[in-house]
Amino acid sequence: MAPSTRVRKAVFPVAGLGTRFLPATKASPKEMLPVVDKPLIQYAVEEAYEAGIRHMIFVTGRSKRAIEDHFDTAYELESELEAAHKQELLALVRSVQPADMDCAYVRQPRSLGLGHAVLCAEALVGDEPFAVLLADDLMVGKPGGPGVMAQMTEAFAKQGRSLLAVQEVPLEHTRRYGIVQGEAAGGALLRIDAIVEKPAPEQAPSRMGVAGRYILTPAIFGLIRSQPRGVGGEIQLTDAIARLLEQEAVYAYQYAGKRYDCGSKEGFLEATVELALQHPEVGGAFRQYLKGLAL
Ligand code: UTP
Repeated sequence: MAPSTRVRKAVFPVAGLGTRFLPATKASPKEMLPVVDKPLIQYAVEEAYEAGIRHMIFVTGRSKRAIEDHFDTAYELESELEAAHKQELLALVRSVQPADMDCAYVRQPRSLGLGHAVLCAEALVGDEPFAVLLADDLMVGKPGGPGVMAQMTEAFAKQGRSLLAVQEVPLEHTRRYGIVQGEAAGGALLRIDAIVEKPAPEQAPSRMGVAGRYILTPAIFGLIRSQPRGVGGEIQLTDAIARLLEQEAVYAYQYAGKRYDCGSKEGFLEATVELALQHPEVGGAFRQYLKGLAL
């Protein structure tokens, strides 16, 4: 049987320590930090849903409650809103959890790295291709266009090979990314020859940095299982992808849209300001407010 090119499941690793956001992340995951009025994880789940994915798998850590509760029915809140005839708010609360979407949770007992977090989802994913979305990378498609994961599932449907979202990054920032080297393979695709986790600028094979969106074939699981610890003493997804390259073609996908690195304070603030400016309810007044600031 030919391998499936339909992506049905998405993995959301949300078990990192989020040290760059302490003390906010002391008792709640950084993926619950809101940008304007939605937590980061909800932006990522909506992006996967828009791409046609209905099975959401969360790899959680010590502070999992908030995320589970967010994607569960909020009985007390919903009955209060119903009694108060606040239909709009009720619809807003219910829209977080569409009826045709299901959520599963698996625990990563220790923060051993992104590769290890993905491996924790193996039993729930099974033997089929799957998406990985890092919610601290908030991705916004071009106005009116598809989201980044929808662009990637469409590309995957055509060639069925693993895909990593990439963008050009400033040379001085290569230490923040997995960096790929590849050859143009038509359209937005590059066929990857090499990938390195967080190289120094002088060691970086290119300026193509991996953003937090992947579609992976299930062959990755066996490779992660035998993957020794890499940069930072963590089991790196990038290192397992470097070995996947030796077995099968892996492509980089130059997405259309913008990425906000909401794992860093600067990126989080940029996302907050830009998304607030576009927000239908507060955008106009916020623009006036910013114009009045003596910067
Ligand atoms: P980061 O590299 O941003 O790490 O993880 P972090 O620990 O969350 O944050 P800092 O650097 O300490 O501030 C990238 C993504 O991988 C997940 C994180 O939750 C985040 O979505 N992750 C990372 C895990 O789920 N488990 C891990 O062991 C490591």
